[in-house]
Amino acid sequence: MNVLLGVTGGIAVYKSCELVRRLRERGHEVTVVMTEAATRFVSPLTFATLSGRPVGTSLWEGTHESVDHIELARWPDVVLVAPATAHSIARFAHGMADDLLSTVVLATEREVPIVLAPAMNTAMWDNPLVQRNLDLLTGTERFTVVAPADKTLACGETGVGGLAEESAILDAVAAAGSERR
Ligand SMILES: Cc1cc2nc3c(=O)[nH]c(=O)nc-3n(C[C@H](O)[C@H](O)[C@H](O)COP(=O)(O)O)c2cc1C
Repeated sequence: MNVLLGVTGGIAVYKSCELVRRLRERGHEVTVVMTEAATRFVSPLTFATLSGRPVGTSLWEGTHESVDHIELARWPDVVLVAPATAHSIARFAHGMADDLLSTVVLATEREVPIVLAPAMNTAMWDNPLVQRNLDLLTGTERFTVVAPADKTLACGETGVGGLAEESAILDAVAAAGSERR
C-alpha cells in the first residue's frame, strides 16, 4: 500500500521517524510530506533516508527533488498525518491549501482515507475550536482520528494530547486501507 505520511510541526515529530520504519516493515511504500514548521524539528534528510524516497516540503520547490502536488495527491492509498498539529487540522477543516501538505490533502481523490493522529498540549486539545475542526473533518467520513493519549507531555504537563501509541496509529492505517472504497 502507498502511504503518504504528512508530518506537521509538533514536538512529536521525532516519533514519526519511527513510524516510517514500522510502515515499511509492514511492506508499505512511504512518501513523506513535511510542513515548514515540521522541518524546524527534524531535517527532511532524516525522512528521506528512512523512507528511501524524496521528501516534499514546499509547493514551490522541493528540498531534495521537485515534487508536483497533483502527482503526489494521486499516489497514496492512505494519507496519514502524524503528528497533526492544531494548525494543520484547522487548515484541513477549512479547505485551505497554502502549503504542500494541505494542498495534497485537498487534492486527493475522495476514495483515499485520511488518518489524523493529533498531538498537542492539553489546553489546545480541549479548545472547542480544535474540537469543532475535528468534528468538521470526521463529519466528511473521509477522516479518521486516532485519539491522543493521556500521558505526561513534552511540556511537562500531564493530560490528553500525547501522540497515540504507534500500534494504534498503525492499526488505524491498516483499517483505513482495508476500507478504501
Ligand atoms: C517547541 C514547540 C513545540 C510545539 N508543539 C506543538 C504540538 O505538539 N502540537 C501543536 O499543535 N503545535 C505545536 N507547536 C506549534 C506549531 O509548531 C505551530 O502552531 C505551527 O504553526 C504549526 O504549523 P504546521 O501545522 O504547518 O506544521 C509547537 C511549537 C513549538 C515551538
